Amino acid sequence: MTQLPHPPATIAVPPVSDVPRHVAIIMDGNGRWAKRRLLPRFAGHKRGVDAVRTTVRACVRRGIPFLTLFAFSSENWRRPAEEVSLLMKLFRTVLERDVDSLHTEGVCLKVVGDLSAFDDHLRLLIERSMEKTAGNTRLTLTIAANYGGRWDILQAVSAAFLANPELRDDPSRLTEVQLAQHLSMAYAPEPDLFIRTGGEQRISNFLLWQLAYTELYFVDTFWPDFSPQVLDRAIESYCNRERRFGRTSEQVEQGQVIPDYLSGAKTEC
Ligand code: FPP
Repeated sequence: MTQLPHPPATIAVPPVSDVPRHVAIIMDGNGRWAKRRLLPRFAGHKRGVDAVRTTVRACVRRGIPFLTLFAFSSENWRRPAEEVSLLMKLFRTVLERDVDSLHTEGVCLKVVGDLSAFDDHLRLLIERSMEKTAGNTRLTLTIAANYGGRWDILQAVSAAFLANPELRDDPSRLTEVQLAQHLSMAYAPEPDLFIRTGGEQRISNFLLWQLAYTELYFVDTFWPDFSPQVLDRAIESYCNRERRFGRTSEQVEQGQVIPDYLSGAKTEC
């Protein structure tokens, strides 16, 4: 069996530490933040970029190695054309202005999602930004853009079948590991902590496969007001959770790991 650097949580119990290895955030509430101030929605997105900058720095300082931000979902195309166009422009501006400082901070930038929908200029900027920062190891910042969890699982299934032609005779032999290595974030461990700002309590087609055993944290704060203090409260809540990964509390206390013969077996909640 091919070994992933970070096998899925249903196969191996990942190390649990006080600092989450991977924080994934749905940055919600930009529009409402702006509306409360009688500003156009776009003003909220612009302030949202400031919150992105602050959060990236905060994660670097806290030694969090992976941060993933949901910037634009595959469903966000349904927004008014003007807002979509302004969001694309903002994305371009961020790439043009921020990549040098991200590089200096040791941040490796990745963009995941169906990038074929973006124009050539934006795709080129994404490619160049990723190339420039590829060697950095302090923090891997992933921007999910035109991303959907269902899209990701579907494309991974197709890719897994293409890569393993023998599966065509018996598709039921496809394993979690084979599939997971074709997910667009196969380079990262599954998120330890998921945060959604803005008061809604939904996953909204974010990392559907990878969130199976993630600790969820919902907060009313609108994204432009997100701060290192709110991040710390989320991390504190995360630290107080018991992560059982299907085991009993007693087994967790004894530090019991799932034996090999159960690898890939269904686990309980
Ligand atoms: C959700 O708030 C936010 C978005 C769909 C866009 C998020 C984009 C940014 C924070 C700026 C760009 C970021 C990068 C990394 C380039 P909403 O508009 O749905 O808010 P609402 O629920 O209050 O209407």
